[in-house]
Amino acid sequence: MIQDSLFLRAALSKPTERPPVWMMRQAGRFMKEYWAIKEKYTFMEMVKTPEIAADVTMLPVDLLGIDAAIMFCDILVTGEALGSELNFHAGIGPKFTQPIRILADIQKLEIPDTQKKLSYVKDMIQIVQSRLNGKIPLIGFAGAPFTVLSYLVEGGSSKDFKETKLFLFNHPDWAHELLRKITVITIEYLTMQIEAGVDALQLFDSWAMALSWDDYAEFSHRYIVEIIQGIGNKVPIISFCKGSSVFAPKMAEAGPQVISVDWNANLSELRKSIPNHIALQGNLDPSILYADKKVIKDRIYRLFDSMKGKGGYIFNLGHGIMPDIPFENVKFAVETIKEYSW
Ligand code: CP3
Repeated sequence: MIQDSLFLRAALSKPTERPPVWMMRQAGRFMKEYWAIKEKYTFMEMVKTPEIAADVTMLPVDLLGIDAAIMFCDILVTGEALGSELNFHAGIGPKFTQPIRILADIQKLEIPDTQKKLSYVKDMIQIVQSRLNGKIPLIGFAGAPFTVLSYLVEGGSSKDFKETKLFLFNHPDWAHELLRKITVITIEYLTMQIEAGVDALQLFDSWAMALSWDDYAEFSHRYIVEIIQGIGNKVPIISFCKGSSVFAPKMAEAGPQVISVDWNANLSELRKSIPNHIALQGNLDPSILYADKKVIKDRIYRLFDSMKGKGGYIFNLGHGIMPDIPFENVKFAVETIKEYSW
């Protein structure tokens, strides 16, 4: 039974023989097999062709032996589904053609028939589940509203989030109108993923660390609360943000089953401020995976020793794998984790 898997047990704060392992961005550019597929298609073609997205999802399952798969997609598909044109440019990253700056831009965005508009994700989940055949759980995901808003407003990635902050500070009512639309489509999207068969969900609020405590509460947290309540308790929900080493106690109030923590926090210390029924995920600095194998092993075991007997725990990185991290180091880390026992 998939419910007995290491990952789902840990996500529900049940005991496990060792920490389960998966890694953010495990289906990506650090693998030559990813590039072999990428050579033939654009990123969005990969995402929107269910068979290809399923192939990419399966790469780390087959090549790394991780304990949970994460579907291959992107957090920005909700922004695109609302009507904002999206492109991915090699070496630059995502670009929304017309950044949102005025109220009329927000009013143009429409909640679509989500099941239809994002049906390629549903089809991909069904293909992946038939290939996984109950071997390991599949994680679905979406971007949290604030992070999706930041891309819609900036038009792409940003270092200082200047436009986003001006938007929140000078036009909070517009920001709420936009956040509301993103929240509605996200609830419909995640509900569709559950119906299609994902075993868990992760909410990515990657850029929450740009916000102050009060702004996090107003522009991020309250919408995460709505999403978690809106999709119900059907599968475990992992709440991730960069900034979690500060925001974790607030994140816990939203009621996720798991909080995924960035690498700035001392995880075993943070554990003391999080209710026992919430599991923790994290929090190795991904740059450790560039280091010598001895260092990789020492740092992972140091983390595990510190989390022993302290409730639900899932190994992950504090953020995604960088594209130039050597594949063999990632593979070594997974093997090392699988040799550990509590
Ligand atoms: O984790 C996985 O392996 C599953 C797939 C996945 C991708 N994006 C594939 C991807 C997931 C979970 C995401 C989420 C995502 N997308 C986030 C949140 C996670 C995080 O890292 O904080 C964010 C912020 C995005 C937006 C995004 N997509 C950016 C900024 C970029 C370009 C820069 C970068 O870091 O790659 C992407 C493109 C993207 N998404 C790629 C992949 C494999 C690279 C596309 C390529 O092949 O060039």
